[in-house]
Amino acid sequence: MARCGAHVVVTDKSGKLAANTAAAIAEEGFKASSLPLDVTDDGALQAAIEDTIKKHGRLDVLHSHAGIQIEGTLEEVSPEGMDASWALNVRSHFIASRAVVGQMKKQGGGSVIITSSNSGVQFDREMIAYATTKHAVIAMTRQMAADYAKHHVRFNSLCPGFVDTPFNAGFEIQMGGRAALESYISTNIPMGRWASTDEISDAIVFLASDMSSFMTGHALVVDGGESI
Ligand SMILES: NC(=O)c1ccc[n+]([C@@H]2O[C@H](COP(=O)([O-])OP(=O)(O)OC[C@H]3O[C@@H](n4cnc5c(N)ncnc54)[C@H](O)[C@@H]3O)[C@@H](O)[C@H]2O)c1
Repeated sequence: MARCGAHVVVTDKSGKLAANTAAAIAEEGFKASSLPLDVTDDGALQAAIEDTIKKHGRLDVLHSHAGIQIEGTLEEVSPEGMDASWALNVRSHFIASRAVVGQMKKQGGGSVIITSSNSGVQFDREMIAYATTKHAVIAMTRQMAADYAKHHVRFNSLCPGFVDTPFNAGFEIQMGGRAALESYISTNIPMGRWASTDEISDAIVFLASDMSSFMTGHALVVDGGESI
């Protein structure tokens, strides 16, 4: 997004990770700033969005991305694990969307991208908390899309398949180690490989920009065919 001209405000629970990303963008000569933010803290999330609007005078794109994967079946996931999944995978996107939509209406439009997963469009292997919340956030995105289309605020879900990030640590343990995970990737995904981060960011830029100007309420699946 920075390469396409955006000033990117990078947030992460880890202020250091957010700062590293902003520094990498600045090193390439593009615009970014960063701040530490736990998106499950409603007040902090709202304040971060309000400060961003105050500082930059507008907010064109919200990409609400953080998520949690608590593995397990109905008997294995605790009620606390289910609540934590709803808090991050659904509720934080609700609070963030709620905080930006007024400004986007005022400025005549905007694009909200909410990261779900291809687990939001298919059942997932022993992942009740993850698959349930990722389905739910697609439903919420569709509802917001319908309600705000008349204000030119678009809401779309991003549904990645496997990307090799620390996020899959739990699934790797569940599978029984790295070799088993690699074998799962090569046999269960029609394209037989992980997505690159560039393949995911191309989809994000598409949803953020006017290239997708007639799309709202869509769940954009980028998964090498896994959910076919
Ligand atoms: N990696 C995959 O294979 C994959 C596949 C489908 C969907 N996703 C979705 O992508 C999102 C993140 O995955 P990723 O691969 O980028 O993970 P990642 O581990 O590379 O990055 C996630 C980041 O989120 C931050 N974070 C975690 N909890 C937070 C919180 N409460 N507040 C603010 N920041 C927080 C972490 O510090 C971390 O830097 C999730 O919503 C996940 O469901 C990932």
